Amino acid sequence: MHTTTELQAIATLAARRAGEHVLANLHRRGDVNSILRTDVKHKLDVEAQETAMSVILSAFSDHAILGEETCDAPLPKTDYLWIIDPIDGTINFFHGLPWWCCSVAVRYKGQAMAGAVFIPEMHQLYEATCDGPALCNGVPIHVSRTDRLDLAMLATGADKWDLGEHAFTFMRRVSEIAQRPRILGAAAVDMCMVAAGRLDGYFESGIYVWDMAAASLIVERAGGRCDVLKAYPKHRIAFLATNGCLHGACREALLPLLG
Ligand code: IPD
Repeated sequence: MHTTTELQAIATLAARRAGEHVLANLHRRGDVNSILRTDVKHKLDVEAQETAMSVILSAFSDHAILGEETCDAPLPKTDYLWIIDPIDGTINFFHGLPWWCCSVAVRYKGQAMAGAVFIPEMHQLYEATCDGPALCNGVPIHVSRTDRLDLAMLATGADKWDLGEHAFTFMRRVSEIAQRPRILGAAAVDMCMVAAGRLDGYFESGIYVWDMAAASLIVERAGGRCDVLKAYPKHRIAFLATNGCLHGACREALLPLLG
């Protein structure tokens, strides 16, 4: 079995290299394979995933990799599964907003072992192992201590397959219960902000396992709580991450809306 330190080093290197590849190609922000009304398929997404995969496979050639760009490919049966979101927040990236990141996590027999989220244009690297503290740029971080929902800032997201209807039901609910709702456009970045105490919680009715695999470990190791509220086919989930104090109240308010 590999140590968490070994796994963390590779997760961090893979996320960093993927981000550096994108940073070196910022002049190609418009270089897409396709643009849909609700999504952008970016060439740099594919290249960043290949970059991260080559780091992982040169260290652990027999491990399985689930990546957003190849999510329909069959996975070999192995104890170790790496999960990559090469650019989380692709639409932000495409439009020139710095709120995007590269996310790499590794699970052993289904258990999160290590994760890294690199936010290149904000020069922030978040990391955690299952047996160590959550760090931002090497410094330990902690979730907020906000325990009143009416004084909390919660981020949510507009699930790209929902075309608005449900997203606005959730947005309305969050606006009714919290001090301020926000839709920032990159789930893993939002969760890292929960880990760092800059947001009090994050909820979305439809994200993917690769959006939360690394960031959820970072939130938990920073003292917060994460929950899959509902699981759908093809790695899609409804997901809640909070500072812990607000978890029960958020769950109670949002769960009934999932139907
Ligand atoms: C998306 C972002 C966005 C969230 C979507 C995700 P992608 O990830 O995290 O914030 O609202 O649900 O799919 O497609 O940019 O990797």
